[in-house]
Amino acid sequence: MDVPYQIRTHDQYLEAYRAAAEDPEVFWADVARHFRWRRTWDSVLEWNFTDPQVRWFHGAKLNITENCLDRHLDARGSQPALIFEPNDPGSPSQILTYRELHFRVMQFAQVLKNNGVQKGDRVCLYMGMIPELPIAVLACARIGAVHSVIFGGFSAQSIADRVNDAQAALVVTCDGSLRGAKEVPLKPVVDEALGACPSVQKVVVYAHTGTPVSMKKGRDLWWADEIERVNAMGNPFVEAEEMDAEDMLFILYTSGSTGKPKGVVHTCAGYMVWTNYTFINAFQYRPGDVHFCTADIGWITGHSYLLYGPLSAGATTVMFEGIPTWPDAGRLWDIVDRHRVSILYTAPTAIRSLMGFGLEPIAGKSLTSLRVLGTVGEPINVEAWNWYGTHIGGGRCPVVDTWWQTETGGVLISNLAGVTPAKATFATLPMPGVDPVLVDEQGEEIAGNDVSGNLCIRKPWPGMLRTTYGDHERCRQTYFSAYPGMYFTGDGCLRDRDGHYRITGRVDDVLNVSGHRIGTAEVENALNMHAGVVESAVVGVPHGIKGQGIYAYVVYRGGIDDANQIRRDIAATVSRVIGPIAKPDAIQLVNGLPKTRSGKIMRRILRRIAEGETANLGDTTTLLDPGVVDEVAAGRIPI
Ligand code: WTA
Repeated sequence: MDVPYQIRTHDQYLEAYRAAAEDPEVFWADVARHFRWRRTWDSVLEWNFTDPQVRWFHGAKLNITENCLDRHLDARGSQPALIFEPNDPGSPSQILTYRELHFRVMQFAQVLKNNGVQKGDRVCLYMGMIPELPIAVLACARIGAVHSVIFGGFSAQSIADRVNDAQAALVVTCDGSLRGAKEVPLKPVVDEALGACPSVQKVVVYAHTGTPVSMKKGRDLWWADEIERVNAMGNPFVEAEEMDAEDMLFILYTSGSTGKPKGVVHTCAGYMVWTNYTFINAFQYRPGDVHFCTADIGWITGHSYLLYGPLSAGATTVMFEGIPTWPDAGRLWDIVDRHRVSILYTAPTAIRSLMGFGLEPIAGKSLTSLRVLGTVGEPINVEAWNWYGTHIGGGRCPVVDTWWQTETGGVLISNLAGVTPAKATFATLPMPGVDPVLVDEQGEEIAGNDVSGNLCIRKPWPGMLRTTYGDHERCRQTYFSAYPGMYFTGDGCLRDRDGHYRITGRVDDVLNVSGHRIGTAEVENALNMHAGVVESAVVGVPHGIKGQGIYAYVVYRGGIDDANQIRRDIAATVSRVIGPIAKPDAIQLVNGLPKTRSGKIMRRILRRIAEGETANLGDTTTLLDPGVVDEVAAGRIPI
């Protein structure tokens, strides 16, 4: 694909940034005309951040799968679109060319249709990282159904919450998934969830592990049987549904500062343009590149940079079922060599954990196919940044530190690989069209350089969220009310002397554990479900590998004969309610929590104690019972 909007020099970046700021409508129309539209737009951008309402390419008609699949068939039908690396290193990898992926997507699109799914219906996907997941995702997009992928590590309760919020008509799942030496059951978890989900009519089950599962008559169908039914109908060409630019493409649930995750909504045209533009520019994609994004499709990174960005650009994308440390810590490097990966995109957590194994797992690996490295999901420390560039990139490959969020759809702040300067621990500069603003607690803009504040974005960009599913007011409250007229990211940020941005972490009650967003309130809700827990408070604590760990203070009712057993039971409760990713790293049983006279928990103090600061805890005179602090400090659990 000819990509005239690829930025190739620093000057071109400055020029693109200026042009997009000066006249966004002209700039984005000029990018958008390189896509396949059934009908072009009446207006490029209409917006206000009060309602908020944002419309890009209003009036245009398209289908994103025609842009990710059909339009590549003539030029690169036999090029690999998807390379699947299975969990077991002894099993052969699977390659799906653009033509094959196109075919398989249409087959499954027909399966969805045969089961009554229509444009606008919601479909939840709870699967492992196997090719059938992107096939099902794209099949939804093909027929205009709204996909909502639920990360395969979430609990039955988390599935039920998401399915019910979205009122999903159909669920796609597997018998189980494979993660290193472990087999993770999926269908039994779905069964448990769906007991409380009346909207679900059908469940399509892909047999992957071969473990026996129960199949409910009238509801559950085997993927293979359904495909056979489609094949019996003849060669399926499922015409792509004509979608409005602003029709919903997907919902992805993400944690915020309240207990209930919210369904971030992305729409068809803006998201497509944004993921494509940022993929091509941040990673400096070149035809023939093999792009390996290690993120799970259950998170936004997998949506935007394993699927939609690379496929819309006609790239070859690698999908890995397993984990980086199995069967040994050289697994990712094996994959890079075997598939001649040129762009590797992963999380700081993975880098830090692999660093811990030393250089032995890298010995004997070539890694010469690599050209660009990327990181995402959390702040990266200097050591990890250097190690990645030196030992994986061989000192040749630029490292892009891409900052963005589920809500932003794609990268907002990042260096462009080899084109704009990189700086360790800095996401550096905004993408064209992105107007970052630092504000103080009062909402005043902090101008100039060498300053820090809360990060907001002043203008709309095509990939931004449009609403939170079923609750637009929540979207307004969460993102557009703290600083009127701006989108508030929830992140703290500094701008250095050169105007480069460095994200310092969340300033709200959201934790970032191994690059996964988890709300403290969500974990507290889960803790409080344990029969013995009276009250709890959760704070983040620095963690060498995960970035942040979860520290829970729990007021426990009843006798404490075996504190370890109680802690294990409480942790198991969190796992069951949310999923293992939310399990606290430390649970401290306490008699009381430090509270103000008005009953507010003093998290600032709890955070400092968890961090190991047990002496200078600041002003405690406003506390209802200052003695509580000493007890809590004395019982601190080091992690
Ligand atoms: C954090 C992931 C520092 C940030 C794409 C943000 C980062 C949250 C970076 C979004 C980065 C993401 N440097 N922090 N390069 N990238 N974050 O929604 O706190 O899972 O708000 O999206 O991750 O997490 P989410």
